[in-house]
Amino acid sequence: MITVVGSINMDLVVRTARFPKQGETALGDLYTTAPGGKGANQAVAAARLGGSVNMIGAVGTDAFGDELLRNLEAESVGTASVKRAEGTSGIANILLSDGDNRIIVVPGANHSLKAEEMAAFENGLKESGIVVMQLEMPIPVVQRTLEICHQHGVPVILNPAPADGFTEDFLPYATYMTPNETEAEELFGPEWEHMLEKYPNRLVVTLGSKGARYFDGQKHVLVEGFKTQAIDTTGAGDTFNGALAVALEEAMPFEAAVRFANAAASLSVEKFGAQGGMPSRQEVLQRMGDDGK
Ligand code: RIB
Ligand code: NA
Repeated sequence: MITVVGSINMDLVVRTARFPKQGETALGDLYTTAPGGKGANQAVAAARLGGSVNMIGAVGTDAFGDELLRNLEAESVGTASVKRAEGTSGIANILLSDGDNRIIVVPGANHSLKAEEMAAFENGLKESGIVVMQLEMPIPVVQRTLEICHQHGVPVILNPAPADGFTEDFLPYATYMTPNETEAEELFGPEWEHMLEKYPNRLVVTLGSKGARYFDGQKHVLVEGFKTQAIDTTGAGDTFNGALAVALEEAMPFEAAVRFANAAASLSVEKFGAQGGMPSRQEVLQRMGDDGK
């Protein structure tokens, strides 16, 4: 079982030919709402790949809250540990232009979760094969969850996104860390590549279409990405993390697990929306095969 502790947002997506300058109004050509949130995205990615997934998080008492819960259930993600908090659900204001995105998240209900409440989930965490987290939750909740998992020897993938919530205190507790290049630089400075050697087979830096890299104890490994036609890269990192969780829980060798996650991420960017395009296992295996490896 995979447990995801994380954010659940409604994404309010607007696409425009170009981003407006400060004080300017620009015309968009598409508006849509779609379930998102890094935590929910990772949960859905893992579930579509055949993982048995439970979600710990919170949605609001608004209509988005109903829709977000319905979506998780439709994706076979367990929602018994998703609480309803008085007030609005988390939302992400997403501007898309020319394959690029700019996102503002208003946490809403996601920030209602308290570190003390995590004790109620201890059994579920203890029984998990792997736990996945990001940093769109209150930092004390992340810290407490890391401690509980550590205590019970449950491996954790910590996706340090957004990076500004990260503290060095997490390092000894996170089994795996998966920043992208920008986050790695924010966390460890411009010399982040040296950090790979400090955390062999634990720190994986994702490089977008180029793939992902890590240090295996002897040498640096670049696991190349799969060629794709990107329509919307929102949620690609989340797909990578959800897929990595599935692969690691199945005890796939590390390099194979990263390759599986790369393949899943490459498929996810081919459709609109963070969760649109998240592949089934069949599609991932096919992509890996297509590559002739
Ligand atoms: O990683 C993409 C996600 O970040 C979006 O779905 C949005 O909700 C924000 O949380
Ligand atoms: Na997508």
